[in-house]
Amino acid sequence: MKKNENVRAIDYYASILKGTKFENDSREGLYIPYSEDFASTLGLPGKVGKFTAPNRIVYQPMEGQDADEIGNPIEITYNRYRDLARGGAGIIWVEAVSVCPEGRSNAHQLMITEENVPLFAKLAREIKDTCRDANGYEPIVIIQLNHSGRHSKPKGTPEPMIAHHIPERENPLMSEDRIVTDEYLTELKAKFVECSVLSERAGFDGVDIKCCHGYLYSELLSSFDREGIYGGEYEGRVRLLVDTVKEARKALKPDTILCSRLNVYDGYRFRHSFATDKDDSEKYDLTESIRLVGELEPYIDLLNITVGSPYYNSDVSRPYRVGVDVPPTNALRAEVRMFEAAREIHRAYPKLPCVNTGISGLCEKSPYAGAGMIAEDYTTFVGFGRMSFAYPSMAIDILKGRFDDKKCCVACSGCSTLKKNGLLSGCIIRNDMYKKIFREFRANNK
Ligand SMILES: Cc1cc2nc3c(=O)[nH]c(=O)nc-3n(C[C@H](O)[C@H](O)[C@H](O)COP(=O)(O)O)c2cc1C
Ligand code: SF4
Repeated sequence: MKKNENVRAIDYYASILKGTKFENDSREGLYIPYSEDFASTLGLPGKVGKFTAPNRIVYQPMEGQDADEIGNPIEITYNRYRDLARGGAGIIWVEAVSVCPEGRSNAHQLMITEENVPLFAKLAREIKDTCRDANGYEPIVIIQLNHSGRHSKPKGTPEPMIAHHIPERENPLMSEDRIVTDEYLTELKAKFVECSVLSERAGFDGVDIKCCHGYLYSELLSSFDREGIYGGEYEGRVRLLVDTVKEARKALKPDTILCSRLNVYDGYRFRHSFATDKDDSEKYDLTESIRLVGELEPYIDLLNITVGSPYYNSDVSRPYRVGVDVPPTNALRAEVRMFEAAREIHRAYPKLPCVNTGISGLCEKSPYAGAGMIAEDYTTFVGFGRMSFAYPSMAIDILKGRFDDKKCCVACSGCSTLKKNGLLSGCIIRNDMYKKIFREFRANNK
C-alpha cells in the first residue's frame, strides 16, 4: 500500500502505533526515508568482498529451534531454509549455530562439529541450489556462530555462563563460578576460529562472529568492572571479538567472507550497557561502537548492525506493535533509532558494506522504507528478520514489484514467544504448523 503524496512519510509509517497508547505522541524530529521504487532499488546488486549479492535484501538469522539433540539440522530445518531460498533474498544469513555444547541457547539449537560438517554442507548446498533453480541466481550464504553465554540452556533449562554480574537481572546474585575465566575465553576464541574453518569447509560463503543481543561476546563489551584481560577499559572489553576476528581472518581463505553481527548500542536500563548514553538509556552514544568497527574494518567484509536484546529490551531490539504483550516504549521511535544508529555507522565507514535491522516492525510498509534507506544511503543492504518467517517468498515478490500485504508480518512477537519457551519457532500468523504449536502452548499454559 503506497502512501498518498500529501502524507508525510513519518505519518504514513505511524500506522504501526494505531490502537496503542503512543498513537498520539508527537512525531516531531522523527524521519524514515520512503521510496516507491522498491523493486529496482532493492533489486540492485551489492558487492561483498569478492562476491556480488544479486539484490539488497537480506534474510536475517532467525533461530528455528528445530535441530536434533546433538545440533544436527533435520528435515524441518532443511525445509525451512529451502522455503527461504526460494524466496530469492540476495543474502541468506543462517541462524545462530553454537560452537560448543555448553553454549547452546536451547536443546534444539544447531551446533557445528567436525562430525556433522556434511550435514551443514547439505544445508549450504540446498540453499544455493533451491534459489538457483527457482530464481536463476545463487544468494550469498552466511552462517552465524555463537556462544549463548548468560542465556545458555543446553538441556532446555538455564545454565548461565556470564562475563560479569548484572545485579539488576540476578536475584539472588549468581555464584562466582558462573563467571567464565580468561582461560575459557581464550580457548573459546580458538573454538570460534575452528568452527569458522569447518563452516568454510561446509561451503558457506561467509562466517559471522556473532557479538550481539546480550550473548557472551556481546556481554563482554560492557564488562566494565571485569578484571583480567577481557574486561575493564575499552581495549579489554573488545579484545575477545577483535582477536577472534583477526585470527579467523588468518585461518580462512582470502575470499571467504568474514563478518560480524554487532550490537552497536545496547540501550539496557541498567549500568552494564554498551554504547549507551550514561544519563538516558533510550539514547545511544556510538563513540565506542565507531571505534570498534574501525578496528574490525580491515579484517571483515560485511557488518550486520543491530541493537538491544530480546531478553532485556525487546522493544528496542525488535520493535513491535500490540501483540502477545504491549511494548513499553513507542515502536516508531525505536525504528527510527535503529535505522539512524546503523546510518551513523555506515556513514563512518562507507566502504564497509553493512546490513541494517528492524524493518519488519514496519509491516506492509517495509519495502518502501527499505528502498528509501538504500536511496538515502542509510545502509548497503536491508535486513528482514520476522518478515522472512512470515513471508518467505517476500524478496522475489518485492523484486517483481508486488508485495502482498496479506502475507506480511504483523509484528505481533508470537514467534519470539515460541522461541522464549523452547518450542519450534516460526510465524504463528501465516504458517499453520507454528499456529498449531502456539495454540497448544497457550492451551497448556492458561
Ligand atoms: C524467533 C526469533 C529468532 C531469532 N533468531 C536470531 C538468531 O539466530 N540470530 C540473530 O542474530 N538474531 C536472531 N533474531 C533477531 C532477528 O534477526 C532480528 O534482529 C529481529 O527480529 C529484528 O528484526 P526484524 O524487525 O526484521 O524482525 C531472532 C528473532 C526472532 C523473533
Ligand atoms: S509470529 Fe509472524 S507475524 Fe508475528 S512477529 Fe513473528 S513473523 Fe511476524
